[in-house]
Amino acid sequence: MDEHALECYRKAGRIAKECREWARENIRPGVTIRYVLETLETMMAERGGAPAFPAQSSRNSIAAHYCSSPDDETTYEVGDCVKVDCGVHVDGYIGDTACTVDLSEDGRWTPLIEASAAALAAAIATVDEGVSVGEVGAAIERTILAAGFEPIRNLTGHGLDRWKVHTAPQIPNYGERGGGRFHRGAVFAIEPFACTGRGYIKERGKAEVFMLVRPPRKAKGLDRELLSDIQSWRGLPIARRYFTRHEPRVVEETFSKLARQGSLVRYPPLVEEEGVMVAQTEHTLFLGPDGVEVLTA
Ligand code: CO
Repeated sequence: MDEHALECYRKAGRIAKECREWARENIRPGVTIRYVLETLETMMAERGGAPAFPAQSSRNSIAAHYCSSPDDETTYEVGDCVKVDCGVHVDGYIGDTACTVDLSEDGRWTPLIEASAAALAAAIATVDEGVSVGEVGAAIERTILAAGFEPIRNLTGHGLDRWKVHTAPQIPNYGERGGGRFHRGAVFAIEPFACTGRGYIKERGKAEVFMLVRPPRKAKGLDRELLSDIQSWRGLPIARRYFTRHEPRVVEETFSKLARQGSLVRYPPLVEEEGVMVAQTEHTLFLGPDGVEVLTA
């Protein structure tokens, strides 16, 4: 890794951490989710970064990918178990971090949140050159099971690369055999999810997160300005909220056409069974010459 890249990774990690900590303090009953997400994205820009993906905040049985629509007025409520996921990039180099906030009056989700945080700590302690992703997954699973919860088995940590939020290796939240090994110079995010259910999520509801996976095959008939706005994100995930300066009808038509061509992928919310609570804790790590550096700590 060259010096510029490492400097950008460190700066992105620092900004992501500041955003996460602001969210931890400011997610309160009665506050709208959209206010929190928009404030986080503004904070990223003010600090010399930009969103690596739309800020997201998923409540209760929603594990991930809840992102406000442009007119979302949903508020956090007393009793909620709230995840917040912040991704920041600096010149394409990404820091990805998440935490969970307990909005119950009696602290009932705190053991669940602590289980995911302890699993992340166990994972970080396990990572080293030559260690397999499955060994890290086993440390996560062991920690969450010992606390009396289940890991979510169909969500994983992931490698990070310039302009790419998800690259190899996938880092499972359970002890899968085999898989890749960690090598020096790697940057990756580990994100244990602990839940009160069986530990499997499904896509449910309307997507607000999208990603342009390839340039449109037929740009004819597409709104040029909107298309160039979409392409300015360089293939990073985007939200419908990013494009409010365009006519909503034009945004819908363009998104649909791009999706039909296979250029745009939708990411709907990922949800456990009704009534199940989910907690997540995430850090971005760099396996450097002197060992593990937690970039978002
Ligand atoms: Co992540």
